[in-house]
Amino acid sequence: MKKYLDLSVDEMYWRIRIFDSLSYPSVIISPDKTLVGANKKFYETFNLSFKEIFGKKCFHMFLYKDTPCNSDQCSISKVIKDKKVHKHTIKHHYRWEERVFSPIFDETGEVAYVISSIWDITHAKALETQLHGAKEFITQVIHSSASAIVAADRQGNINVMNSVAKELFGDYNGGEGKIKHTEQLYPPGKAKEIMRILRDEKIGGKGKILIPRTTIVTSHGEQIQVEMSAAIIYDEKGNESATMAIYNDLKDKGNVEKELKVAQKQLAQSEKMASLGQLSAGVAHEINNPLTGVLFYASLLLERDDIDDAMREDLEYILEDANRCKEIVKSLLVYSRSSGSDKTIVQLNEILEQSLTLIRDQKKFRNIKIKKHLSDEMMIINADTSKLNQVFINLVINAADAMNGAGTITLTSYKDKTLKKIFLEVKDEGKGISHKDLSKIFDPFFTTKEVGKSTGLGLSIVYGIIEEHEAKISVKKTGSKGTTFIIEFPMYFALGKEPSLCKP
Ligand SMILES: Nc1ncnc2c1ncn2[C@@H]1O[C@H](COP(=O)(O)OP(=O)(O)OP(=O)(O)O)[C@@H](O)[C@H]1O
Ligand SMILES: [Mg+2]
Repeated sequence: MKKYLDLSVDEMYWRIRIFDSLSYPSVIISPDKTLVGANKKFYETFNLSFKEIFGKKCFHMFLYKDTPCNSDQCSISKVIKDKKVHKHTIKHHYRWEERVFSPIFDETGEVAYVISSIWDITHAKALETQLHGAKEFITQVIHSSASAIVAADRQGNINVMNSVAKELFGDYNGGEGKIKHTEQLYPPGKAKEIMRILRDEKIGGKGKILIPRTTIVTSHGEQIQVEMSAAIIYDEKGNESATMAIYNDLKDKGNVEKELKVAQKQLAQSEKMASLGQLSAGVAHEINNPLTGVLFYASLLLERDDIDDAMREDLEYILEDANRCKEIVKSLLVYSRSSGSDKTIVQLNEILEQSLTLIRDQKKFRNIKIKKHLSDEMMIINADTSKLNQVFINLVINAADAMNGAGTITLTSYKDKTLKKIFLEVKDEGKGISHKDLSKIFDPFFTTKEVGKSTGLGLSIVYGIIEEHEAKISVKKTGSKGTTFIIEFPMYFALGKEPSLCKP
């Protein structure tokens, strides 16, 4: 027998045994695409015999074609040309196959034959699909979470940051941005401390921890308070393979709590004002009648000729004080909203200008500068002009009083289309309102001014009128440099649209 590559018959036989023992079907093809043999697994798998394949063309046998494939598509041609292994994956009915084409070289180093092996990778493919699906699912869970999620490898290099985390921490761009390492997420030393606690079995159990409040640092250097839970991810052998942390911004929680407190305070205030309003209305009506009597009889007495000068002077005092009482009663009726209201569609800035002309010439305003930053936009509200005049005058007089008659009062009006609100701010450079007085300033009869001169009804009347307009008033800011009151009016819309009132 002709010896191949100087191999003995034994050796040749031994090599054929190896070929036959291969667990995957393999067929030998000559460069002219003719099948020259196959291993045992091939014959078994395809239920063929040597006779049935020997001398057949591969394209005929495997692809049922009469002509060969194009050389750029034919793996056999590629192997002969490149002298190296070529592989491709195909789906054959329900099976996934990896077809591996390996060269068999002759003594001169040319490709004498090509072995084509078929590896069944259906199971591996199914696992790969499952794995891909599971990975996709986990990715979706991570990215649709309302909490910020960050994962890092054992060295602390960040490899996952969901969109909430990117927003919370700022510039992270898949390792391209500024944030790359977990140490950058915390103040100096904090990351190490968290890792130490995480590994401590006594705190939260080994490998996990919940920290109700801690500080993180954004890529802009801003420090933010968050609630954080962290965990070490272990591999199947129990070795640390990664870490992950979930953060919730406490600012949002804090804001909701703050808003709730403000709303509770406002509710308590309006309840108090409502009951005080009823009381005031009752008292005002009761006092009004006897007061009219006092005024009437005092005026009658004053007209008599038989009274001396001293008596006349006393009667004038009585009339003056009784008139003052009448003014207070009038104010109380306004505060308690028992007086009617006459609302029209008006421009806020116009009413403001009107109010200023009413007080401009008063002695109190001689050394006071009034600065106006009034919006050019249409500021349409539904309001009772004379009552709003009263509101603005009260606020401006209070501001002047707080500055002891000298300084600047700044009036600013603007609107917020999204909130559908119109704002007016009255700012002074006065002494401010003390913390203990802040909760009482809108109460009727609360005053820190000279007894006898001020009734302390101004702001309570303001409050009542503002409520009547479905508006809100509050102290925006107060301190030793002055006080700013802010009023928030609802924007007026006719039939759901902003009216197109022409500017005068
Ligand atoms: N702009 C302000 N700066 C500092 N304190 C103020 C200011 N506005 C009001 N206050 C405080 O609120 C209190 C109540 O104000 P309010 O207008 O109700 O009464 P009043 O001004 O004291 O008296 P009235 O307005 O009846 O003459 C004032 O006495 C003052 O202590
Ligand atoms: Mg006042």
